[in-house]
Amino acid sequence: MIRFLWQVAATASLFACSHAQSETSSSYYTSPTIYPSPNTTGIGWDGALEKAQSFLGQLNLTEKVYIVTGVRGPCVGNIAPIPRLNFTGLCLQDGPAAIRVADYASVFPAGITTAATWDKTLFYQRAAAMGQEFKDKGAHVILAPVAGPLGRVALGGRNWEGFSPDPYLTGSAFALSVEGMQSVGAQACGKHYIGNEQETQRNPTVNGEGETILAISSNIDDRTMHELYLWPFADAVKSGMASVMCSYNRINQTYGCENSKLLNGVLKEELGFQGYVMSDWGATHSGLPAINGGLDMDMPGSSFGSQTLSFFGGNITAAVQNGSLPESRLDDMVLRIMTPYYFLGQDSYPSVDGSSADLNGYNPATSNYSFTLGTDKSRDVRGGHAQLIHDIAAQGTVLLKNENATLPLKSPKRIGVFGNDAADLVTGLYNTNNLNYAGAPGYDIGTLAVGGGSGAGRFTTLISPLEAIKRRAYAEGAIVEYVLDNKVAIQSGGRGGGLGPPTGKISPKPDVCLVFLKTYVTEGYDRLNYEADWNSTQLVANITSFCNNTVVITHSGGINTMPWAENENVTAILAAHLPGEQSGNSIVSVLWGDVNPSGHLPYTIALNESDYNTKIVNQTNTNDTDPNAWQDNFSEGLFIDYRHFDQAGIEPLYEFGFGLSYTTFNISDLSISATTNASLTQLPGDTAIQPGGNPELYAVLATVSVTVSNTGEVAGAAVPQLYVSFPSGSVPEGTPVRVLRGFEKRQLAPGASEAVQFMLTRRDLSYWDVVSQQWSLPSNGSATVQAGWSSRDLPLEGELALTIEG
Ligand code: BGC
Repeated sequence: MIRFLWQVAATASLFACSHAQSETSSSYYTSPTIYPSPNTTGIGWDGALEKAQSFLGQLNLTEKVYIVTGVRGPCVGNIAPIPRLNFTGLCLQDGPAAIRVADYASVFPAGITTAATWDKTLFYQRAAAMGQEFKDKGAHVILAPVAGPLGRVALGGRNWEGFSPDPYLTGSAFALSVEGMQSVGAQACGKHYIGNEQETQRNPTVNGEGETILAISSNIDDRTMHELYLWPFADAVKSGMASVMCSYNRINQTYGCENSKLLNGVLKEELGFQGYVMSDWGATHSGLPAINGGLDMDMPGSSFGSQTLSFFGGNITAAVQNGSLPESRLDDMVLRIMTPYYFLGQDSYPSVDGSSADLNGYNPATSNYSFTLGTDKSRDVRGGHAQLIHDIAAQGTVLLKNENATLPLKSPKRIGVFGNDAADLVTGLYNTNNLNYAGAPGYDIGTLAVGGGSGAGRFTTLISPLEAIKRRAYAEGAIVEYVLDNKVAIQSGGRGGGLGPPTGKISPKPDVCLVFLKTYVTEGYDRLNYEADWNSTQLVANITSFCNNTVVITHSGGINTMPWAENENVTAILAAHLPGEQSGNSIVSVLWGDVNPSGHLPYTIALNESDYNTKIVNQTNTNDTDPNAWQDNFSEGLFIDYRHFDQAGIEPLYEFGFGLSYTTFNISDLSISATTNASLTQLPGDTAIQPGGNPELYAVLATVSVTVSNTGEVAGAAVPQLYVSFPSGSVPEGTPVRVLRGFEKRQLAPGASEAVQFMLTRRDLSYWDVVSQQWSLPSNGSATVQAGWSSRDLPLEGELALTIEG
């Protein structure tokens, strides 16, 4: 295997041209070629490799090609059955918040909501519950979880499918999601690998002259790649992730699904990934270059829209026959696919639900392949997950402001509810990106509980905020007045027409006004605005003009600026993200205090949108003649989200990690101890690669403990966070001020205290050294450790001193 020092040659040129988009492509990073694709050795999947080998031994060439090429079938992606070997094929379904193509299934809180819980138990439980639903519908492979996009750009259209722009938080959620899904026997397919940070020009287009304009190239330097975008994938590979989906975009000029540096060199060799790489839908742009570059499965193969041919399929048969592709490479592709299948016991698995086939427009009677569907159509697989969904959404709701202890509500007798986001859906229970984002931000009247595109879900149940509020209020003898059409609700007060009491549409004057705002997000489009949609700022202005106790609730698939946050009539703010099907019940639990909010922001809310340093690249209408015009230099390096705000000294409105509670907490007794007194090498030893990379990276080098106490009157969950900083001089330039390296969540009764421990691994305490191509401890072995409640509220601080070998 060729090791290539990717960074050294390229650094100067990238940064030299980082603000000069017009320079030729040769001045950007390029991706070196790394061949051959490493063979799987089945590490971690004991016994399963032998079964896969025995299966492989029975396949003829045509059948081997079947295993690696998608066909039209009952699921979103399908591998054809081979009846003579009792192989019933593979069913692949979206992901990541629900089984999209299914009925009688749950719609879970989105990734961003889940991240906002900061609760590792919930990360796992959500995935295990979801995995069970996929399995019960007969889906072998879940096209989830998501860690790409990571969330580099606030307006990224798919950030909500993933977790957080912080790689440590995402890594934890991503890896625990893989473990949860696979614990029930479904395969996880982590996506989209890698640098898929915007939707705009994620795929190539054809201009008016019929020329192909290439997809955007995410130009990422080696250190940034390792410390941000790759970090969560390393965690998930360590957790035994069965599959990885390569992304649509190019990375350093080469398409994700034929990028041998990233697939062969980084994923399979450096991280020791044992499973298979599948293409995103239509992301394969070649045959042999992709196969040699590390792609193992082409999706959806020959079933994509009007596409009837695959770069794989018969082309592989011909390539093997004419000697241009060694059959050993095809054999490894098959083994990589079949080993996790056997490891997870999928040779005995539920049949595919016939309703999935119906919803997918598939008719088995006219198919060339013998897919067998279950006869019990429309299986209800929800399995009592409603309570878990309710809990995650409530815990993923972040209390940002709470003046005069407005919340929890104290049995108000007159409640006003405003905004299109409070309403039940009026355009159907399944909203994908057939709603044109560019023309309007999704649908108007109707609550936003999940985003659009392949990450959407078909609701079997959906509780709107208004429905749940009415149920609660009526039980307490309160009245609920509401205006759900924002066009009406932004009209100013006045006799008969406007809203203002006492003569307008709202009378009597409410004790509390609940304003629901939403921000639509969908695959295929990036957002256009930072503020919530549908004249949200005007809506808040109008309600606060007559209601001095206004609570704003946002349902959003990403970061919003909140120009109304300091308005004194806005007494409380809740960021409820995308809550899934139990939306109304979840928000009522928090508003009335059945659940004490414990969510914390998994991102930074800026005071001004200009405070964000990363933007969506958009060349549409400016350059459609240069095929290579779409270049996105990640020239900010490691400085995204809070790392940028800290570095630039910008005061955010609400910082990363922030979240209030109905109780108060204290944190004390920081103690730091190295796990060894012996001196350590600055680089990890040369230990055989395991899934996740060099196992020495995960050795715990230090433990940190703190005590957290509930000093208030009600029970609540504390989220202590641990950040690490390195002294300048001991690490290269470009190192962030501080990075998250630990978090825990603890439910505490009033007056209770608990000790919390954080483990710091070698990787946690290292930077990626581009010269040695290794994770390196700081040269003097020291680090500052801070603990507290957010990235800007860190009352405890101490020093860790490791001894580094001279
Ligand atoms: C998306 C993937 C999805 C696939 C299948 C693609 O357009 O990018 O995330 O899994 O479609 O629906």
